[in-house]
Amino acid sequence: MHQSKEIEKTFKFNEKDKETVKYSLNRFSVAPMLDWTDRHCRYFHRLLSQQTLLYTEMVTTGAIIHGKGDYLAYSEEEHPIALQLGGSDPQALAHCAKIAQERGYDEINLNVGCPSDRVQNGRFGACLMGEAELVADCVKAMQDVVNVPVTVKTRIGIDEQDSYQFLCDFIDTVVRRSGCNIFTIHARKAWLSGLSPKENREIPPLDYPRVYQLKKDFPQLTIAINGGVKSLEEAKQHLQHVDGIMIGREAYQNPSILAQVDHELFDASMPVVDTVAVVKALYPYIEQELSKGTYLGHITRHILGIFQGIPGARQWRRHLSENAHKSGADISVVEQALAMVTERM
Ligand SMILES: Cc1cc2nc3c(=O)[nH]c(=O)nc-3n(C[C@H](O)[C@H](O)[C@H](O)COP(=O)(O)O)c2cc1C
Repeated sequence: MHQSKEIEKTFKFNEKDKETVKYSLNRFSVAPMLDWTDRHCRYFHRLLSQQTLLYTEMVTTGAIIHGKGDYLAYSEEEHPIALQLGGSDPQALAHCAKIAQERGYDEINLNVGCPSDRVQNGRFGACLMGEAELVADCVKAMQDVVNVPVTVKTRIGIDEQDSYQFLCDFIDTVVRRSGCNIFTIHARKAWLSGLSPKENREIPPLDYPRVYQLKKDFPQLTIAINGGVKSLEEAKQHLQHVDGIMIGREAYQNPSILAQVDHELFDASMPVVDTVAVVKALYPYIEQELSKGTYLGHITRHILGIFQGIPGARQWRRHLSENAHKSGADISVVEQALAMVTERM
């Protein structure tokens, strides 16, 4: 079997107990989200948590190979960072994985979960659950040319193919043919027609026990669970059954939960991060980006939810939403918005 790679993080707790704990790189991650987890968003998330694995938006092999822009750009500060690829041609995926490794990505992930029509027309995303051998060939082709882990993000089923046996057969085929040993499972199936991508994240019911069972039946695999998780308390419950947890919408809409991740899920000696300090720590990045011509609103749209539940949060959000898009908007817009929160503290 192809020997797959895995990266571990090692934590040495206080000198007294001298306990060393090893965690998979995938213990906690922010999900790949198209149009949301762009490089500005990830830079901000990294200020909130040093240990979280950050995923890019899905980038198609076509965009990397034929696109005009640089779809792989990121800041060094974003590490550890995983590139999510969309595609189903093993050669094209291998080519892109190699470029991604050269660019310094820490993990390459294959999207086997997106149900959009556009993605299905390209014969990738969730519809690939019906083609386990092709998925295996794709993963193997990538693993053959890179040293970083190649992982798969998938669902628990598609359409009528939603039995536990179907999921096991899919995983088993991919593992046996490619040696892939890290999977993130979005704990609901996808309907390939009739539902929009958004509905496909809400309507099919979540089935966490099915993912727990998968970990029991494939104990040698690193299994991370995804879908519907809204708090670190819930995350801790899941971590009793699986190796990792991936959070999407809640991390984006309420990013302050990331401020507690290092302390709560990795190493209690790490601090809970102060969100006001994080916003201030973002200033140099914002100024640097503005000087390169980035539009302020493209950065501030990711930070709107940081003060959710705190007095002044509404004013913060409104000030940014109303002013960041104006021409010439600069860092003072963020400073004014922040003052609306800090003056109430
Ligand atoms: C705006 C948006 C864009 C998404 N784009 C992607 C994507 O590019 N690749 C992917 O694998 N999943 C994508 N997803 C799905 C998420 O990665 C995740 O699986 C899903 O939202 C369930 O997790 P959550 O309940 O924690 O949000 C997207 C979700 C949202 C809300």
